[in-house]
Amino acid sequence: MAASRLSLNFPSRRPLSDSFRHFLVIPTILAFLTTIFIFHYISSTSTLVIHLHNNHHRLHVNPKEVVTKPLRPIPNKPIIQISLPKRTRSSVIEIHISNHSIQLGNGSEGTTLKSSIIGSIEPKSPPEPESPPSPVPSNPTTTTTTDDDDVFHNRETFFENYNEMNKSFKIFVYPTPKSHPFANVLLPVSSDPGGNYASESFFKKSLAKSHFLTTNPSDADFFFLPFSIATMRHDRRIGVGGLQNFVRDYVVNVSKEYPYWNRSGGADHFYVACHSIGKIAMDKAVEVRVNAVQVVCSSNYFVSGYVAHKDVSLPQIWPRQGDPPKVEPSKRKRLAFFAGAINSPARIQLVEVWKNDSDIFAHHGRLKTPYATELLRSKYCLHAKGYEVNTARIGDALYYGCVPVILADYYDLPFTDILNWKSFSVVVATVDIPLLKNILNEVGFDEYLRLQKNVLKVRRHFQWHGVSAEYDAMMLFTWFCMSCGSEEVL
Ligand SMILES: *[C@@H]1O[C@H](CO)[C@@H](O)[C@H](O)[C@H]1NC(C)=O
Ligand SMILES: *[C@@H]1O[C@H](CO)[C@@H](O)[C@H](O)[C@H]1NC(C)=O
Ligand SMILES: *[C@@H]1O[C@H](CO)[C@@H](O)[C@H](O)[C@H]1NC(C)=O
Ligand SMILES: *[C@@H]1O[C@H](CO)[C@@H](O)[C@H](O)[C@H]1NC(C)=O
Ligand SMILES: *[C@@H]1O[C@H](CO)[C@@H](O)[C@H](O)[C@H]1NC(C)=O
Ligand SMILES: *[C@@H]1O[C@H](CO)[C@@H](O)[C@H](O)[C@H]1NC(C)=O
Repeated sequence: MAASRLSLNFPSRRPLSDSFRHFLVIPTILAFLTTIFIFHYISSTSTLVIHLHNNHHRLHVNPKEVVTKPLRPIPNKPIIQISLPKRTRSSVIEIHISNHSIQLGNGSEGTTLKSSIIGSIEPKSPPEPESPPSPVPSNPTTTTTTDDDDVFHNRETFFENYNEMNKSFKIFVYPTPKSHPFANVLLPVSSDPGGNYASESFFKKSLAKSHFLTTNPSDADFFFLPFSIATMRHDRRIGVGGLQNFVRDYVVNVSKEYPYWNRSGGADHFYVACHSIGKIAMDKAVEVRVNAVQVVCSSNYFVSGYVAHKDVSLPQIWPRQGDPPKVEPSKRKRLAFFAGAINSPARIQLVEVWKNDSDIFAHHGRLKTPYATELLRSKYCLHAKGYEVNTARIGDALYYGCVPVILADYYDLPFTDILNWKSFSVVVATVDIPLLKNILNEVGFDEYLRLQKNVLKVRRHFQWHGVSAEYDAMMLFTWFCMSCGSEEVL
């Protein structure tokens, strides 16, 4: 981003450390609001609209408004709307509250939530008479409004918050002596992180070098629990069977040695995990799951364990060096590309429907050609969920300048509060896989060019840099975290 933009003077707000105290009450308030919200939903309407306000970036619900009239979009400032179809007898959607999380349905693939989650939803019930016409078009692919051109929902607010965070946000990492028997699990790795779950190690390395660190815990806004799930998994002394005890013991140790865990019940603490096994690792330390901020790759808001708006979605990134080759959009002859293991209903359907197609290449297993070549010669690259909603394919697609198509229902997409996914991706519900070719063809070439241009703009937010570079994934996360602590949240 141009340096000049950053030197603009933004009005300063109250000090961050003050506002972070408000963070501690958020779980309670959220639970309360969630309750009202759900009661309201069940009693009076069949349409659930979660509205994120541009200026606040967080779930923004005014309790008075909720009980007196239906939620409706604030004119011209929609970011995300989630509308559920009418509840019918055959619907599998059910809503209940479980440890501050909302579960919709039973988690099986392809439930009745038909519309895609971001952008392309048209409410099934008629709009409220008093509400203005929905500013979100039913077909996002034909949108050409100014807002959608920007990869940020609100650029000005983003940079204002970013600059404030950069000045004052502080993180304390619980220290580990090099002689600790589990130093390998608790300290950042010295080698270059590799593989599918590299994001976890990159995060720790970046954090260790970042200017956000403080050695004085009384200055800290947030506290980092430095255990690495990926390393524990491969440590023979721990393994998958020992994860839960290790996490429980570590948290007990930290809560005895320091006053900070007990002070907040863990609400100003966070950990990072890219492997989905992280989900069960907290089973014997329930407070970590319920109160702490979980920075995880498997950010599926349909399963308990991940709490949207508390937890943070970390992009799964395959590490790559240097700049990718450039391929002009017009030279990308193939419409869409997918390759991978067929381990989910979405992928089974994808390959079943499109295996013989000449425009959409959906391949089971290993390719004969290099993976990069296929990403470079395709306009759209399909991110179809596997065992989990997350895969490294979004990062792969962006790196090679290919527009990602998200086929992963209930994926809480990384940085979705900051980045306007509609501007650089196409989100398609998995039930619409048979319509994929129509959907992509309808986008049109001009719109494709716009998406592709934005892909090149956002891709640096989906890369890890040895030392935390300006605006890389680590920075955006901390920005994100800062905004959860802001008093503007509620
Ligand atoms: C909710 O939290 C309680 C303890 O606070 C725990 O016993 C229970 O198993 C949790 N439920 C779920 C679904 O995680
Ligand atoms: C979830 O819903 C699907 C579709 O209605 C059903 O086939 C499946 O048995 C349900 N699973 C559970 C665990 O209830
Ligand atoms: C953030 O802070 C660091 C260290 O104080 C500084 O080097 C960097 O230029 C700042 N970045 C921005 C965008 O203000
Ligand atoms: C917790 O502390 C005990 C006693 O000092 C130690 O033996 C154990 O290794 C620690 N566990 C973890 C996970 O740090
Ligand atoms: C925090 O609470 C736990 C459990 O109640 C207790 O064992 C521990 O000593 C407390 N820590 C501090 C620093 O007081
Ligand atoms: C794909 O081609 C095979 C062999 O020609 C054929 O048996 C199959 O029915 C085709 N599948 C689809 C979905 O068109």
